[in-house]
Amino acid sequence: MNIHQEIKKRRTFAIISHPDAGKTTLTEKLLLFGGAIQTAGAVKSNKIKKTATSDFMEIEKQRGISVATSVMTFEYRDLLINILDTPGHKDFAEDTYRTLTAVDSVILVVDCVKGVEEQTERLMEVCRMRNTPVIIFINKLDREGQSPFDLLDELEAKLSIRARPLTWPINMGSNFKGVYSLYEQKLYFFKINKTKVETDVAEVSLDAPNLDTLLGPRDAETLREEVELVEGVYDAFSEEAYQKGELAPVFFGSAINNFGVKELLDTFCQISPTPQPRPTDVRQVLPTEPKFSGFVFKIHANLDPRHRDRIAFLRICSGSFERGKFYHHVRLNKDLRFSSPFSFMAADKRILEEGFPGDVVGLYDTGHFKIGDTLTEGEDLQFSGIPSFSPEIFKELINLDPMKAKQLDKGVQQLTDEGVAQLFTLELGNRKIVGTVGELQFDVIQYRLENEYGAKCRWVPMNVARACWITSDNKAKLAEFVRLKGNQIAFDKDMNPVFLAESEWMIRMNRENNPDIQFHFTSEFK
Ligand code: G4P
Repeated sequence: MNIHQEIKKRRTFAIISHPDAGKTTLTEKLLLFGGAIQTAGAVKSNKIKKTATSDFMEIEKQRGISVATSVMTFEYRDLLINILDTPGHKDFAEDTYRTLTAVDSVILVVDCVKGVEEQTERLMEVCRMRNTPVIIFINKLDREGQSPFDLLDELEAKLSIRARPLTWPINMGSNFKGVYSLYEQKLYFFKINKTKVETDVAEVSLDAPNLDTLLGPRDAETLREEVELVEGVYDAFSEEAYQKGELAPVFFGSAINNFGVKELLDTFCQISPTPQPRPTDVRQVLPTEPKFSGFVFKIHANLDPRHRDRIAFLRICSGSFERGKFYHHVRLNKDLRFSSPFSFMAADKRILEEGFPGDVVGLYDTGHFKIGDTLTEGEDLQFSGIPSFSPEIFKELINLDPMKAKQLDKGVQQLTDEGVAQLFTLELGNRKIVGTVGELQFDVIQYRLENEYGAKCRWVPMNVARACWITSDNKAKLAEFVRLKGNQIAFDKDMNPVFLAESEWMIRMNRENNPDIQFHFTSEFK
């Protein structure tokens, strides 16, 4: 098979949702339909159960499982489908944002009772930044939810995307009878059904008299009226608008009951994008280019503290990746060879001989990789669009055992390379500041420093509400600002200066008073 055919075959996407909307259930059902697993319950969720007494201990337990579920690959209807898992917990949102840089489209799950929730909005903002195509699955129709029209209005209002239903529900909750496919003119009948994958289907047009027999005259009439309204209000579905990320097709179903999932998967296979071009600091890279390139979007530490090696997840962007060949690590300006790269077919780790654009390769790493690193066949380019976001919580790291200073340094360095948190250094006294988006990471770091590196630490909260990277064309002005602000300036791992502000107001004031300085909320700026 040539590279064009390999690319045409591949679909790489993520399922995203606010926790509890049904992401894990839907993932599992897709694998079930794809034949990748045989029974429901085979995929262990990597989500953090609310019932856990201690969240971070639960994370430790889940960490082992989540390598297996990080990427789930299966074949379906001649396609090779890669689902990239994303953590649902909001304290790990940055992990999810980074994973979204490695996909070509997403399926967004929304709970029909709760509608659009906080995490839904934030995740969609990230998708909007890159115009990632989105399919929406409205889940839990077996529960009494909001009216479908209200849900669609809410999606459009809160997610800044046009919505287009492709199926339409007949009632909800205990009266839920099924969905009508607006394009296939088919009725899918709902049954509570947690194990079987088949659904009863009837081909029937809306004006056919037997619709009344199938649904009962009242529901048939309501369906006719509602579909007429839908066709009047919403534009016809356009694949092009979907691929540009402007229009989201919407499906209704109940993942736990295997309902609506097959239609979703079949439509996904028809319309979702193949591996797409990717931006770099110098040019756009096309997947069809013969030379290999790819970037690391996730690093996973080994659970066993005696083995320090880690797994780097690399998304192939162009050409083909071959086992045992030397590739150029652009940041380190070094050539590396990987003798046992692996793929994630059927949630199993397998040695990978050759990979193609859209594939994710697992690479054993002994400390060469940071998130965002690029591998090429020699060309000097860096994939862009994998920024660090300005952290929201800052604490100073205090070493509790002076004899273990080296271990602490190494541990913090490696954990922050993994993207668990961001490390900043205050010039004064070389003090270490850790910045995160959630409180949970501090517990995780403290626990892992002790268990994996034998170093003890404690945290001192800092009065910092926001940090932003600062740049200026006027080097003298920047140096003066850095000098004047003293211990409100820290340096990130690449020695870029960062302004630690006590409040948003402080940033506004400093912006006004220093027009030559630019303040950035992500680490990626031109
Ligand atoms: P998440 O990954 O998005 O966090 O959600 P997950 O799939 O774990 O689903 C959250 C809860 O919603 C689970 O119940 C799951 O069984 C339930 N659920 C998923 N799809 C449907 C559906 O179509 N209808 C209904 N009624 N419920 C659904 P749980 O009680 O939290 O967990 P469990 O004990 O059932 O595993």
